[in-house]
Amino acid sequence: MSAQIIDGKAVAAEVVETVTAETAKLIKETGVVPGIAVVIVGEDPASQVYVRSKGKRATECGFHSVTHTMPEDTSEEDLLAMVQSLNDDPVIDGILVQLPLPKHIDEGKVIQTIAPEKDVDGFHFINVGKLGTGETDTAFVPCTPAGSMVLLKKALGTEDLSGLNAVVVGRSNIVGKPMANLLLSANATVTIAHSRTKDLPQKCAEADILVAAVGRAEMVKADWVKPGAAVIDVGINRVDAPEKGEGKSKLVGDVAYDESAEIAGSITPVPGGVGPMTIAMLMANTLTGACRRAGVDAPTY
Ligand code: GUN
Repeated sequence: MSAQIIDGKAVAAEVVETVTAETAKLIKETGVVPGIAVVIVGEDPASQVYVRSKGKRATECGFHSVTHTMPEDTSEEDLLAMVQSLNDDPVIDGILVQLPLPKHIDEGKVIQTIAPEKDVDGFHFINVGKLGTGETDTAFVPCTPAGSMVLLKKALGTEDLSGLNAVVVGRSNIVGKPMANLLLSANATVTIAHSRTKDLPQKCAEADILVAAVGRAEMVKADWVKPGAAVIDVGINRVDAPEKGEGKSKLVGDVAYDESAEIAGSITPVPGGVGPMTIAMLMANTLTGACRRAGVDAPTY
């Protein structure tokens, strides 16, 4: 059997199309323009690329978009003051401080200073707690797991995962734990596996839904995949690709794709799977914040 390939690029484009149309409607009906502020400290090239594409996509959606670039030696105090000024700015609905931050700044302190109602990353304790207790009407859900759920529900053709075993490999606060909570909210039976899990291949092989979010290139092999399973690969790993020429590299996921695609029922590719969904869901979260400010219902995806 050959798996259905889940086209994250196409689904992300659909989400952005909905956000763009709903933004135009929101502005026309209420005058509220969704506003997003992205803050980057330092000059990490990968972070600069991400931040530029977030700003570009926000403008395409019709948002008011600002990017604050602060020097590498910015003090924690100055960054906290920047966050506070964005918390107080009535035209900003979403604040994203690009991670990682320089070592002399306490990331946790910065995240917890963002007003929860503007925390479009969903990293603040209030949003984590709301997700954990099912208060998703007023929470922000982290973008990567939120996007993974959109892909999963599309692939399976259902919102209800009752009776399905889901295994999430990885227990990060950004992906593994929120993903497990989302799967649980959708009625799946959820296991969180990680580097200390016994018999990891066997645990994975019981999964109707397998989510790999460990950051280890092609760790999940075909014989870890239950025949017909839905496989969501959150990993993005750069590896050497001598077959493309000397010094060349390529992106691979946490799943050995070619062999697993022979076994799975559906699978996300890398690149072009979960990756494009992350920015799309950031736009969706920002629009949700603006809809809450305007007192109208936010679209669902
Ligand atoms: N750096 C890499 N991914 C992310 C993300 O999702 N949010 C933030 N704030 N920083 C990141």
